[in-house]
Amino acid sequence: MLFNVALLAAVVAAADTIMPADLVVDDTANIVAVAKTLASGAMSYYNGTANYSGTLPAPYYWWESGALLGAMLDYSYYTNDTTYDEIIATGIMDNVGPDNDFIVPAQELDEGNDDQAFWVFTALTAAEHNFTQPAALTPAGVPTWLDISINAWNNMVARWNTTMCSGGFTWQIYANNFNGLDYKNSASNGGIFLISARLALLTGNKTYVDWATKIWDWTDAVGIIDSHYNVFDGTDSATNCTQINPLSFSYQNGIFLYGAAAMAKQTGDAVWKTRAEGLLGAAALFFSPEKNATNIMWEHACEGVGTCTKDMKAFKGFLSRFMYSAAKVMPSLAPNITAYMQTSAKAAGKACSGPNIDGAPSANGTTCGQKWYVGGFDGSVGLGQEMCALETVHGLIALNDVLAAANPPPAATTTTAAPSPSASKKSGAAGLAPLDLRWTILSIVCALFVWGMA
Ligand SMILES: *[C@@H]1O[C@H](CO)[C@@H](O)[C@H](O)[C@H]1NC(C)=O
Ligand SMILES: *[C@@H]1O[C@H](CO)[C@@H](O)[C@H](O)[C@H]1NC(C)=O
Ligand SMILES: *[C@@H]1O[C@H](CO)[C@@H](O)[C@H](O)[C@H]1NC(C)=O
Ligand SMILES: *[C@@H]1O[C@H](CO)[C@@H](O)[C@H](O)[C@H]1NC(C)=O
Ligand SMILES: *[C@@H]1O[C@H](CO)[C@@H](O)[C@H](O)[C@H]1NC(C)=O
Ligand SMILES: *[C@@H]1O[C@H](CO)[C@@H](O)[C@H](O)[C@H]1NC(C)=O
Ligand SMILES: *[C@@H]1O[C@H](CO)[C@@H](O)[C@H](O)[C@H]1NC(C)=O
Ligand SMILES: *[C@@H]1O[C@H](CO)[C@@H](O)[C@H](O)[C@H]1NC(C)=O
Ligand SMILES: *[C@@H]1O[C@H](CO)[C@@H](O)[C@H](O)[C@H]1NC(C)=O
Ligand SMILES: *[C@@H]1O[C@H](CO)[C@@H](O)[C@H](O)[C@H]1NC(C)=O
Repeated sequence: MLFNVALLAAVVAAADTIMPADLVVDDTANIVAVAKTLASGAMSYYNGTANYSGTLPAPYYWWESGALLGAMLDYSYYTNDTTYDEIIATGIMDNVGPDNDFIVPAQELDEGNDDQAFWVFTALTAAEHNFTQPAALTPAGVPTWLDISINAWNNMVARWNTTMCSGGFTWQIYANNFNGLDYKNSASNGGIFLISARLALLTGNKTYVDWATKIWDWTDAVGIIDSHYNVFDGTDSATNCTQINPLSFSYQNGIFLYGAAAMAKQTGDAVWKTRAEGLLGAAALFFSPEKNATNIMWEHACEGVGTCTKDMKAFKGFLSRFMYSAAKVMPSLAPNITAYMQTSAKAAGKACSGPNIDGAPSANGTTCGQKWYVGGFDGSVGLGQEMCALETVHGLIALNDVLAAANPPPAATTTTAAPSPSASKKSGAAGLAPLDLRWTILSIVCALFVWGMA
């Protein structure tokens, strides 16, 4: 009897937290529950409140707060869990800077073009989702999310630099950040390309179309994007951009992929469709590291050799974000992206099974590891690891919505319609809904209980 009471308590506790390892990729309620666990794990690193803009502990840089708030905006939008909305709004508004363009004097040592770009991505997401600007934070005269994004865009494009290489944006903005004043990197150029493309889609203003085209053409001409659509880390003014740094990180592909897909939608021009498809093809580099890890995402440049920095440990999440966002604006990409992301999300779920070590106050047994291809928790914990899993998991809702819109369910009268290819692919992975799971557990417990009483 005592044995059974203890068992009952343990089983019910486990059923209350949906473990990421139990992710069911085509069950919305299950995805929402897992995402909720992961969002809580990610936000445990951030001490902001509705009245106080949070700061991430060192050595997380300023850009990653912006990236976290952007991830949380999508989390709120796709799960309808508005728990964090005020914290998110406060965090963004407290970082727009005196000119409402994410140029923040206090962050000068931490702010390059790509850092600013990550905050602008967040403002754009807020604009795209019509995210509420709380009245308390928007006294008269405070610009909208869209205006903030446009201000930032104007600030950024003024730095187009033709001193060398016939153009391009340098990595850094300020002369005292001398390490990156000559380097022209894919994150800065791709970041402003993506911002231009999303502004084009939001406003229809041709100026943004023209800039997106100009930045793509330059990036392509200097070889940061090669003829196979591989995206490399950057190139240097010191060589007049004749030599390319061949490192390649997942989010760099994603930035250009999402931008090209947005341009395909905005312009209807087949060249952008070809580019988006080419970039998705080149993204294969970031999947399937081992024979037994087909379609599982990895950070190709650093995970295998164990050299990922804290920054790099967040990158996979952005590839996920930019992939599902690309599928939203270009639904023909959705089946291939879904195949990648469902497998990766399941692997990420299995990696999020660690104890709450290193001060990470996530629910015990749900702390995320770094490498998804090892089949479980690898002991490497941090904010980036939580964000990568979160963005990959809530992205499944975005993708399932895109697929459902492309393949509407048969009308109620049609009971014999064959499932569409994508629907049948998904049904192969169907599992128990959380409610079913609770019933199953309860019936097992009840059976044991009755057995114990006998
Ligand atoms: C936060 O601000 C709101 C609105 O200004 C106020 O109602 C609330 O009491 C504040 N909360 C804290 C903890 O200061
Ligand atoms: C928030 O965290 C940062 C970084 O750890 C720290 O400097 C700051 O004092 C904290 N603020 C509050 C209000 O806890
Ligand atoms: C969120 O709410 C919207 C609007 O009510 C609804 O269409 C959508 O299905 C909800 N999403 C989830 C994941 O429950
Ligand atoms: C946001 O509002 C605009 C204008 O009212 C509308 O066209 C758009 O569909 C809305 N977007 C979302 C995600 O609700
Ligand atoms: C640098 O490269 C550009 C092409 O990108 C070329 O037009 C220019 O002449 C080169 N400048 C120097 C100094 O080599
Ligand atoms: C333009 O790039 C050159 C290096 O090619 C750099 O020295 C200069 O500081 C840059 N100018 C601006 C305004 O960023
Ligand atoms: C288009 O965008 C540019 C750059 O922000 C701006 O200068 C211009 O006024 C806009 N045009 C219209 C018609 O809104
Ligand atoms: C999807 O992947 C298949 C197989 O790799 C490829 O043939 C096809 O072109 C891809 N479709 C898109 C839209 O990228
Ligand atoms: C977390 O779970 C592990 C075993 O999975 C256990 O050893 C540890 O004591 C638990 N920690 C807490 C704080 O509950
Ligand atoms: C793949 O195989 C390796 C070596 O046997 C193993 O350590 C790893 O857990 C496997 N990965 C997955 C995702 O099962």
